Amino acid sequence: MMSMPSNALSRRTLLGGGLAVAGAALLSARGFARTPAKLPKRTRAPASGEKAISLAAQERPFRLLGAEAPETAIWTYGPEPFHLVRLARGETLSVDFENRLPEHTSIHWHGLRIPNDQDGVPYVTQAPVKPGERHSYRFTPPDTGTFWFHPHCDTAAQLGRGLAGVMIVEGDESRPYDEDIVVVLKDWRLDEKTGGYLPFSTPRGELRAGTFGTVRTANAAIAPRIALPAGGDCRLRLLNLDSTRIGSLGFEGMEAAIVAIDGNPIAPFPLHEWRLGPAMRLDVVVRAPASGAEGRLMDFFAAEPVTLATFVGEGEALKTGSFDPAPLTASDIPEPKTKGAERLRLAFATASGGKAALAIDDDRDPLANALLDSLCSASKTNWSMNGQSWPGGDHSNVPAPLFTLKEGRSYVVELSNETPHVHPIHLHGFTFKVLNSTRAELPVHYADTVLLTPNDRVTIGFVADRVGAWMVHCHLIEHQETGMMGYVRVV
Ligand code: C2O
Ligand code: CU
Repeated sequence: MMSMPSNALSRRTLLGGGLAVAGAALLSARGFARTPAKLPKRTRAPASGEKAISLAAQERPFRLLGAEAPETAIWTYGPEPFHLVRLARGETLSVDFENRLPEHTSIHWHGLRIPNDQDGVPYVTQAPVKPGERHSYRFTPPDTGTFWFHPHCDTAAQLGRGLAGVMIVEGDESRPYDEDIVVVLKDWRLDEKTGGYLPFSTPRGELRAGTFGTVRTANAAIAPRIALPAGGDCRLRLLNLDSTRIGSLGFEGMEAAIVAIDGNPIAPFPLHEWRLGPAMRLDVVVRAPASGAEGRLMDFFAAEPVTLATFVGEGEALKTGSFDPAPLTASDIPEPKTKGAERLRLAFATASGGKAALAIDDDRDPLANALLDSLCSASKTNWSMNGQSWPGGDHSNVPAPLFTLKEGRSYVVELSNETPHVHPIHLHGFTFKVLNSTRAELPVHYADTVLLTPNDRVTIGFVADRVGAWMVHCHLIEHQETGMMGYVRVV
């Protein structure tokens, strides 16, 4: 049985306003189990076969500001914003991708543990897909859950125009929920009179917490009303696909429990307030309001909490007993050894001229010093990782890898934040276990992106089980694009 306070004010008081990882204090009072509770085993056999889809990146005008307002020239992969791809665990996805944009692009499959040559990073894992060209992707996602896909060069502008899709790999439920709804959170930088864009990056934003959108949306609508079956236990897949904003998400008027983080199942625990940074996902089960009643998805981070979406109960009440949502079934992410694992340290800092110059040319890496084009490099370098920045030295080349790892080995990495800003740190290709944080009280959980708050040191562990060059970067896109990006090579 789960219960939660319903008063947002008491939550804020307890959390102390601007606390870096809100939710932490309150949750710690309840105590996170250091050893995660056991999840039920999967009973359904994996599917087989192949699902073939076509995606075309193209401009498709859309009324983001409302039915009467001017259109915005958004970029999407399919007929609707945040095109949804659903497949079953075990199914192979084959994608015929066509670039109908005026500039080159590629598709990175965020959070999927797939082979490196399908990872979609221009110059690192594939050639850029030029305007008018096609490219095929083919892979079998090993994990169930809520994922997404997006470009990997000129990301502030391409993602800023909406170029992102959602991928759901089904087969993780132990009992079916009464509803399954995707909620994509994204802000847009719009001139509200014309529907046109404001600059996606600003020098001030690049150097600080990023440039924020002016129009907040859920599923490309401003504070939409979404119907839920009254009294049902409904799965809401929350995705933060914004380039900048870190939400502090919670619900009013509905009980809610977290059942997966970045697609990875975790034993259900009450959601009070959870900081969801760019690229992060949270699967939540809510008890839908009674018929005609409302519940709200809120961002509590601002002094004045913001309603992101309103949920309205419809029909006969489905459930009347206490809220005890079904857990998802266990995934099979390889468990990193912590004893005997190799320990590494990755420091996130501003780029000082001196430090950036320390970047070592690694002639043994085939990528280091590969030349980048202007969409994949930036003329400014604000940030660094272990003293190295992306692009390397003269702003045109791929730098040396941050680390060279051995295939099959476990690594424990301490991520340390030496800046006064929050960074959502993402590692491609591997799902890591968040073992510890010196500042945030977090449950031990699996993730592909973790928030690093100022002065925090977060320890993650993972098994480097696939060879290749795997990007690691801040997912606050203006940080990523002004230096806070690198890669590890697994050999
Ligand atoms: Cu969401 Cu480098 O990726
Ligand atoms: Cu950052």
